[in-house]
Amino acid sequence: MLSKSLLLSFCTTALLASVASAKNGSAEIDWDAHQWQAPGPNDLRGPCPGLNTLANHGFLPRDGRNLNMSVIVDAGFDGYHMQPDVLALAVKVAFLTTDDPFSFTLDDIKLHETIEHDASLSREDFALGDNLHFNETIFSTLANSNPGSDFYNTTSAGEVQRLRLADSEARNPNVTNTDKEFFIRSAESGFYLSVMGDPLAGVAPKEFVQIFFREERLPIAEGWHRSETPINSTTLGPLIGKIEAASNWTTSGGCPIIVLGPDFGSF
Ligand code: HEM
Ligand SMILES: *[C@@H]1O[C@H](CO)[C@@H](O)[C@H](O)[C@H]1NC(C)=O
Ligand SMILES: *[C@@H]1O[C@H](CO)[C@@H](O)[C@H](O)[C@H]1NC(C)=O
Ligand SMILES: *[C@@H]1O[C@H](CO)[C@@H](O)[C@H](O)[C@H]1NC(C)=O
Ligand SMILES: *[C@@H]1O[C@H](CO)[C@@H](O)[C@H](O)[C@H]1NC(C)=O
Ligand SMILES: *[C@@H]1O[C@H](CO)[C@@H](O)[C@H](O)[C@H]1NC(C)=O
Ligand SMILES: *[C@@H]1O[C@H](CO)[C@@H](O)[C@H](O)[C@H]1NC(C)=O
Ligand SMILES: *[C@@H]1O[C@H](CO)[C@@H](O)[C@H](O)[C@H]1NC(C)=O
Ligand SMILES: [Mg+2]
Repeated sequence: MLSKSLLLSFCTTALLASVASAKNGSAEIDWDAHQWQAPGPNDLRGPCPGLNTLANHGFLPRDGRNLNMSVIVDAGFDGYHMQPDVLALAVKVAFLTTDDPFSFTLDDIKLHETIEHDASLSREDFALGDNLHFNETIFSTLANSNPGSDFYNTTSAGEVQRLRLADSEARNPNVTNTDKEFFIRSAESGFYLSVMGDPLAGVAPKEFVQIFFREERLPIAEGWHRSETPINSTTLGPLIGKIEAASNWTTSGGCPIIVLGPDFGSF
């Protein structure tokens, strides 16, 4: 009798918990265990604000090392409610950026023309300087976009991509701008709108996006919470399409290349 009622009570609790978590994607995450902490001198960070932020909150190893598919897929789900379908390709390609066959670091992925590309939103082009660290001058194009509104959206994200590319074309004689970079850049714009805002509408508060890029911090204290809608290819695909359309893109010529590793050339 006792064990029966205990069992019943356990099942009722589990059922309620699963209903609650279905309504609120944040319910199972212990946010107190994931406080923001600046990286220390021996911690590695990279050119990706999304992964750096996950490391600064301890969803990824805070030292930025020993990354692999399961570590990143779990961190993306817990921190951002992202599903594996929108992360897996980037992780597979990230393995090319190191000679270590089992893991990579946040620093490794800066390898130019594997994933890292020109005309970034917050980093300088490789040929012009520092393609790794946040640069406020570069970021000002995004920061100042969509004037008169307190949010960014797919229209402003496309316009920012157009302006960042025009800057690279004007200053970087070695700029690489093919379909490959265009797709990656548009996906990254879709990522910041989705993780900092509403992944269905593609609208994100400016304050949240700016904290995400400048501090690589989740703006929880400012009112952000993890999207209740899971971010996956169903939500991201349409956003990328709208961003691409708004960016008025054309190639700067040349064929897409992928640098295969630190000691390899490219195809
Ligand atoms: C977890 C969710 C993720 C989010 C929210 C995210 C977000 C972003 C954003 C917004 C950028 C553009 C930065 C800029 O243009 O200045 C970016 C760049 C980058 N991301 Fe991520 N990302 C995520 C996952 C990943 C994964 C899984 C990988 C590979 C393992 C990756 C590798 C990179 C790299 C190498 C760059 C630099 C590209 C460049 O700007 O040149 N990211 N990411
Ligand atoms: C979701 O749950 C978390 C943790 O219990 C809570 O802090 C947050 O305010 C909730 N969000 C919504 C939209 O209900
Ligand atoms: C991924 O990394 C985690 C943490 O270092 C480790 O436990 C796991 O075995 C690794 N998975 C693979 C497939 O290497
Ligand atoms: C110039 O661009 C090519 C192709 O993207 C790249 O392989 C090379 O590293 C770049 N060189 C510099 C100095 O940026
Ligand atoms: C940031 O980028 C601007 C514009 O390219 C450049 O002039 C400046 O030196 C960069 N700042 C740092 C700290 O690299
Ligand atoms: C984005 O915001 C601007 C300014 O409010 C607005 O004019 C534009 O139509 C919006 N774009 C979309 C796709 O809603
Ligand atoms: C994305 O998530 C939604 C809501 O959970 C789901 O209906 C849809 O099938 C998912 N898409 C993919 C490609 O998994
Ligand atoms: C869009 O691209 C076309 C063709 O390259 C160009 O003529 C036009 O000026 C561009 N519009 C904007 C707003 O840049
Ligand atoms: Mg770059």
